[in-house]
Amino acid sequence: MTGPRDGGGVVITGIGSCLPEAVVTNEEVSRNLDTDHAWIHSRTGIASRHRVASGIETGDLAVTAGAAALKSAGRDGCDLVLLATTTPDRRCPATAPRVAAELGLRVPAFDLAAVCSGFVYGLSVATSMIGAGSCDSVLLIGADVYSSIVDPDDRVTAPLFGDGAGAVLLERGRPDGPGAVLRTELGSDGSGDGLITIPKGGAYLTMDGPEVYKRAVTTMAESARSVAGRVGWDLADIDAFIGHQANIRILKAVAKRLGLPPERVISNIENVGNTAAASIPLALADAAAAGRIKEGDKLLLTAFGGGLTWGSSAVVWTGAEPVHDVRG
Ligand code: UT7
Repeated sequence: MTGPRDGGGVVITGIGSCLPEAVVTNEEVSRNLDTDHAWIHSRTGIASRHRVASGIETGDLAVTAGAAALKSAGRDGCDLVLLATTTPDRRCPATAPRVAAELGLRVPAFDLAAVCSGFVYGLSVATSMIGAGSCDSVLLIGADVYSSIVDPDDRVTAPLFGDGAGAVLLERGRPDGPGAVLRTELGSDGSGDGLITIPKGGAYLTMDGPEVYKRAVTTMAESARSVAGRVGWDLADIDAFIGHQANIRILKAVAKRLGLPPERVISNIENVGNTAAASIPLALADAAAAGRIKEGDKLLLTAFGGGLTWGSSAVVWTGAEPVHDVRG
């Protein structure tokens, strides 16, 4: 799919998002738990999250977000579908081929599991594959249905997570023009794999919140600083900081370490909670729809999550209009 957008770099040419219709407030989450809206909101910034209706799976949200991203780019196909998720529809096979098929595509498709860093890991894989000439366009979708792995009786995790999906289309383009993904850096530390996990034989996610919190702040700040430095950006020139939406206090603490003023911190956590692999593309879509990020803006993306995994990306924002849709 080379053409007018060909130009030696990799650019985001479309952005789409999808949220389930049902909204679950803090009051509802707290109904059977020893917690309340005041605690959840003051400690996390979350007021509500979306939850899929019975029978709706990650693949369904991914199809809708993927279709929205293609529409945003004015395209009807791509060369590869990459789905970042930790809640695939089934353990086997991967969900991405089903998503591709429902988008009417018979192209390579695979899942990528890097928990809350999945979207940034996906950016690295997608840009590398386009850069290597393996394909000309990648539909990268981050989608998760954590309501399927969160214990509604666990007050540590139940208030935090929401369901959703976000997607971008990546194509060849000008290396420093609008949409350009300039550089992505990744990391992992598997010695912390027990901090966010579904224990062997278990059904539900467990998390050591305070330890993850501490590591998230230091690691995200280091990773974001590193990628900005490698592309020659002065932190003072960054228009928006878009971190994985796990906790508003984490985002503010990272921004403070980077010397970024609070108004450059983009957050939609209040209305969606932590949507794992969908978190960053959903935040991007919401920020673009609200006019908070504009074509040509310098964006610093950073994520941290289970694995432990992390990653950061320097992106020049695209001029594409975001497309949003609702599913189940
Ligand atoms: O997406 C992957 C990355 N995930 C994250 O980055 C999440 C990182 N962690 C966090 O966001 C926070 O650690 C939490 C939101 C999970 C917890 O907030 P915290 O400020 O770290 O609270 P804490 O766990 O240190 O608990 C403080 C107090 C404790 O009571 P005591 O010991 O001071 O009496 C907890 O038992 O708050 C209590 N507590 C709660 N109270 C009411 C813990 N959870 C709750 C709750 N409601 N839901």
